[in-house]
Amino acid sequence: MEKLFQPFDLSGITLNNRIVMAPMTRRRAENDQLAVEDITATYYEQRSSAGLLISEGSQISTRAYGYTNTPGCYTREQIEAWKIVTDAVHKAGGRIFLQLWHVGPYSHPLLQPNGDLPLAASAMQPEGQVLTPEGHKDYVTPKPMTEKEIHQTVEDFGRAAANAKTAGFDGVEIHGAHGYVVDQFLRDGTNKRTDDYGGSVENRSRFLFMIVDKVIESWSADRTGLRLSPSFERPGAGDSDQANTFRYVVEKLNDYQLAYLHISEMISPDMRSNYSDKTALPLYRSIYNGTMISCGGHTKESAILALNEGQTDLVAFGKLFVSNPDLAERFLKDGPLNETDKSTLYHGGTKGYIDYPFLAS
Ligand SMILES: Cc1cc2nc3c(=O)[nH]c(=O)nc-3n(C[C@H](O)[C@H](O)[C@H](O)COP(=O)(O)O)c2cc1C
Repeated sequence: MEKLFQPFDLSGITLNNRIVMAPMTRRRAENDQLAVEDITATYYEQRSSAGLLISEGSQISTRAYGYTNTPGCYTREQIEAWKIVTDAVHKAGGRIFLQLWHVGPYSHPLLQPNGDLPLAASAMQPEGQVLTPEGHKDYVTPKPMTEKEIHQTVEDFGRAAANAKTAGFDGVEIHGAHGYVVDQFLRDGTNKRTDDYGGSVENRSRFLFMIVDKVIESWSADRTGLRLSPSFERPGAGDSDQANTFRYVVEKLNDYQLAYLHISEMISPDMRSNYSDKTALPLYRSIYNGTMISCGGHTKESAILALNEGQTDLVAFGKLFVSNPDLAERFLKDGPLNETDKSTLYHGGTKGYIDYPFLAS
């Protein structure tokens, strides 16, 4: 049997296969508490034949919020609602980690407590617009975090991680990717600070490692994953020496023995079919000693290849999991794949969420 379908020992948790559902924001928390709804329990339960599910990004605090109808993990109501999800997944034999998220500058005063400015590494206005309760608005110039706010944010990550334990998750993933606040601190294009958190890569990564240190106080390191996206750069939010920045970070991560390092790449399936030229996976594989997840544009074929060539230990799929709740079975049986309806990715209630058909038995 292909490795893809073989069990994997993730720090003592047996995953039924090496297929991971990637974290995906679906904006179905349509209530004032920003708690996941019952349909979200059904959604994850339907997908629990993946070896591991990683939840959608979940805010660690009110300050971390930037996308309407996305859930949090910082209030009692939110924890109780997540419990329904984790119970459903566990009853179905699945495993689920919570993704801990702080959007940094990708927010708006209309989405922040007291109409405050969003927090970021530096006062740099992101390009583009954000959906607010008053419609789409340009991003604003965020407030650079004070040292006190940095420490508060680290505390918030720690508290949300502890809440995830109360909510019954199997572990947590720190969202350090895609230009959000952790990634922002790492890159010199978005981190212009002159204090202990800016300048050298050692300083720019201080915030990340403080978060990791805090999160592993409530979860052992081997139940804490980290998502990075070295090659993903938002407009105007790059790094003058991306390779060295991430080499430093990944080398240092070797000291932690985390559950996994999750490398997110913006790679299309076409590029994956000739993947060894395009992916930075071999580079990080050669640096990192622990378990790795690869994500971005994977097909069944590219996943099998990446696993067989030893480039990664687990492979995460995003869009394919939106439309194929039983993706693992479809891969195993070479079944046809449902098309993903892009119009219901971020709204639509149950439509395009829990109504994708399973393979006919
Ligand atoms: C609808 C949607 C929502 C997403 N939300 C998140 C998220 O909350 N956190 C995150 O780290 N990545 C998020 N991503 C990125 C995915 O995890 C994944 O990296 C991306 O879809 C590429 O994988 P794929 O080609 O298999 O879809 C999202 C992607 C999609 C399509």
